[in-house]
Amino acid sequence: MCGIVGCIGRGSETVDVLMDGLSNLEYRGYDSAGIALGSQLTVLRRAGELNSLEEAVSADRPSGTVGIGHTRWSTHGSPTDRNAHPHTDESGRVAVVHNGIIENYTALKAELEADGVHFTSETDTEVIPHLIAQSLAAGHPAEDAFHETVDRLEGSYAIAVLMDGDERIFAARQGSPLVIGVGDDSTYFGSDVPAFIEQTREVVFLEDGHRVTATTDGYRVVDKTRAPVEIASQIVSYTAEDTGKSGYDHYMLKEIYEQPNALRQCFAGRADALEGKITLEEVDSIPEPGAVQFVACGTSYHAALYGAAVLREIGIPADAYLASEYALSPPPLTLGTLVIGITQSGETADTLGALREAMSRGASTLALTNVVNSTAARECDHVVYIRAGPEIGVAATKTFSSQLVGCTLLIEQVVDRPRDCRPLIESLRDLPSDVQQVLDSSSAELLVEKYGNSEAYFFIGRGTNVAVALEGALKCKEISYEHAEGFAAGELKHGPLALVTPKTPVFAIVTGNDERARKTLANIKEVQARGAPVIAVTDGQSDAADIADATLMISETHERIAPILANVQLQLFSYHVANALGRPIDKPRNLAKSVTVE
Ligand code: F6R
Repeated sequence: MCGIVGCIGRGSETVDVLMDGLSNLEYRGYDSAGIALGSQLTVLRRAGELNSLEEAVSADRPSGTVGIGHTRWSTHGSPTDRNAHPHTDESGRVAVVHNGIIENYTALKAELEADGVHFTSETDTEVIPHLIAQSLAAGHPAEDAFHETVDRLEGSYAIAVLMDGDERIFAARQGSPLVIGVGDDSTYFGSDVPAFIEQTREVVFLEDGHRVTATTDGYRVVDKTRAPVEIASQIVSYTAEDTGKSGYDHYMLKEIYEQPNALRQCFAGRADALEGKITLEEVDSIPEPGAVQFVACGTSYHAALYGAAVLREIGIPADAYLASEYALSPPPLTLGTLVIGITQSGETADTLGALREAMSRGASTLALTNVVNSTAARECDHVVYIRAGPEIGVAATKTFSSQLVGCTLLIEQVVDRPRDCRPLIESLRDLPSDVQQVLDSSSAELLVEKYGNSEAYFFIGRGTNVAVALEGALKCKEISYEHAEGFAAGELKHGPLALVTPKTPVFAIVTGNDERARKTLANIKEVQARGAPVIAVTDGQSDAADIADATLMISETHERIAPILANVQLQLFSYHVANALGRPIDKPRNLAKSVTVE
């Protein structure tokens, strides 16, 4: 959460580079934004979305040849001007932007207050500029003052520091992401690559404990002991265009429409159609696990539910756990258990906490993630990338679909039982065009006219479609702010049915025509008997379309792929409901994309 940007070596363009970077990072938080420019230190910060800061910048265009910036998702302190970053010391000589949480800030603050320091914000971050200022006042050179201060911080942080009269940026990473962008005669910092993707695609991924001093001549990385560290740079595969809206009204819509391509990329080169085999080389050395525990949060947790359901059907004991629960109340591990963390960003603190808990107990771990070189990717024993491309919309869409494909490929690779994967491979090959067909022909937007003004929305399914029901509800509530809930269809009659009325449409996800589908038809009748309209999301194999009040059709495909298509219909419905209500779809209130705090 929170986005950091930094730029040195661009002369008078610095302010524009910072503002572009903040705009690209706004998905990480939009409670407030600010910049600091040097070498004559100037700080501008505003509560609210980036446009408040933009107005301030155009009214009072600050000059400066080196700068840092921040977009905030509040943890300590409400979203006000006072709590906006950059934070400074009392004399305004040191400016700091920070992402993460300083766990020992109460003790540090008490110590500073005892020394007569006055705090002006409610944030944990403010201790940092005061500590640096104290060290400077004691006569220590700027770089030493920075290192001494970082030595005292506990918790998670990515920080960037600017000092008055000093043309350098000091930065440190511990537990929160921070990357360097390498330009021709310039250096950039970002919480994530989009922060500087318009400037350069050459990136250095820092690791925990790394600290950086950047000058107009380049940058130096050292570790905690201040010993130099050499890290090779990499060229990221995506471009600035991939992170723009490409003419769509919202990133979410763009990313929904990017799904055919994302799924093609996820599957490319990972199957041998003639042999009928999945060839996920990065994990071909993993033996069949005795059991699998998935850990994840939010949408990724729904992908985990799907993965666990598929594995159980194959006969491998598997469960999905909410990472925040797993980290503190871990289930027993049996010999040969593989712990799989599903995380789009690879930086979600709860998921990293759960994976670390599993590692500490000796489990083998695997990250299924979208972000190359993310913390989860680096810390786990194995990694599988879903290759969905950058996802900026706060609501996960294309990455969820790609997680389901990634799960399926992973499962087929590690399960060592004789079978013919040809039908699955064919369906995976056809998936991009099947998704395209949903996108081209969906009547989800038309349903909004009829059902868009309801009291609540419910979503039901069985088997792997439970994951789709929960995801459909999460998407709907997070972007439309309407009440939405997903249930395993069989559970309705055990309580939730009390909520069902003629003003609560029920989306029933019914794919295939097995016993689960037939039992879901019975559940459809139950809700219709209470007057609720039912929208069937179906491939037409069962009678769901005949008995429902409305239908969202998908094509017939492999039973493991059908949930992906059904989910696309629900994404479109949620998007159009939220759009009709005029919600800020890419920036839902109180949320941010990458949740790097517990
Ligand atoms: C909802 C959404 C979140 C994330 C969750 C985990 O649309 O995006 O629920 O799925 O915060 O994030 P990752 O997958 O990055 O670990």
